[in-house]
Amino acid sequence: MAGPAPLLSVRDLGVTFATPRGPVRAVDSLSFDVPHGRTLGIVGESGSGKSVTSLAVMGLHTGAEVTGSVALDGRELVGLPDRELNRLRGRRMAMIFQDPLSSLHPYYTVGEQIAEHHRVHFGTRRAVARARAVEALAEVGIPEPGRRAGEYPHQFSGGMRQRVMIAMALVCEPDLLIADEPTTALDVTVQAQILDLLARLQQERRLSVVMITHDLGVVARVAHEVLVMYGGRAAEQAPVEALFASPAHPYTRGLLDSLPRLDDPDDVPLRAIPGSPPSLLDPAPGCAFAPRCARAAAGTEEERARCATERPALGGAGGPEAAGGGGVPGAPGVSGAPGVLGGHTAACHFAAFPAVAAHEGTTAP
Ligand SMILES: Nc1ncnc2c1ncn2[C@@H]1O[C@H](COP(=O)(O)OP(=O)(O)OP(=O)(O)O)[C@@H](O)[C@H]1O
Ligand code: SF4
Ligand SMILES: [Mg+2]
Repeated sequence: MAGPAPLLSVRDLGVTFATPRGPVRAVDSLSFDVPHGRTLGIVGESGSGKSVTSLAVMGLHTGAEVTGSVALDGRELVGLPDRELNRLRGRRMAMIFQDPLSSLHPYYTVGEQIAEHHRVHFGTRRAVARARAVEALAEVGIPEPGRRAGEYPHQFSGGMRQRVMIAMALVCEPDLLIADEPTTALDVTVQAQILDLLARLQQERRLSVVMITHDLGVVARVAHEVLVMYGGRAAEQAPVEALFASPAHPYTRGLLDSLPRLDDPDDVPLRAIPGSPPSLLDPAPGCAFAPRCARAAAGTEEERARCATERPALGGAGGPEAAGGGGVPGAPGVSGAPGVLGGHTAACHFAAFPAVAAHEGTTAP
């Protein structure tokens, strides 16, 4: 049965850049939902299309061809004039980036910048906006917020600057927050504090969050659902517990295997996935992961030929029709959302869903 409509619904998203060497299809056939008050983790290697996806949701691509549908609370954003998108950015959806320094103006105090953001969107008087800015700094755990509002970005540490960015993103009380690698520049202790802060704010405000990261540890900490991207497409989508317990796609298994384990001896090298990400300029006809895939390498000649020539569709344990709890992958509608609303899907001809793994004689973890 269909649940409540998700806040963000992305269907068949495509983003293509025209380059001197030809079109680069950076995101292809991507569909996902983010329900109210939930966190979707988008994970993948460098170049897999995570940032291009988030910028497409925010309507921030200039000069790229964006196709498909991005609906926020049922309102289509693709093709919306800039003036209307500007109104939604900040108030309904906000974004925080990896490097807060590049997003903060060095000549204005952080209080002025947060207050200005509030004034632009709500038309509030200067004193009210300033008070809201101080409140916002307090909410994200900045000590002595009244005094620190009068300081400049360079007077804040990296972690505190990231808190300022979160305060700026949330001061207009958006429904959707997109965080693109918000903690990778921070040391692990500060990273943990920022992730805990985001998780707390997400719960308190029933925010919908898209957390973009290349770090599965971050996903495990904050996400309810996970979308694994490879070469601009969805490789696997699942609730976070299912993804970690039974990764169905060989790429996801490779990512999990490359995580350091507590019982590893100190001198064991990290197990990186061999090879490099696919070219998006001239994509090969079959599965984009085929040249790096351990499952394909261990398969029969016939299986390898299939991987090399036939692009796998995103499907559930019973094949593509079983994706998304009964829906058809990529099809519009809440229950048709592949994977993200409780289903588990993977784009692999030989996806190892638990039931299939048992049938093949392998043990599901
Ligand atoms: N303006 C552009 N013109 C051409 N290609 C682009 C442009 N922006 C991004 N791309 C390409 O799109 C692909 C996806 O880029 P994206 O920035 O989304 O990767 P990412 O997953 O965010 O990686 P990272 O983890 O390094 O941030 C890359 O191959 C990139 O080169
Ligand atoms: S379709 Fe083939 S190459 Fe692609 S992930 Fe599955 S087994 Fe590997
Ligand atoms: Mg990125």
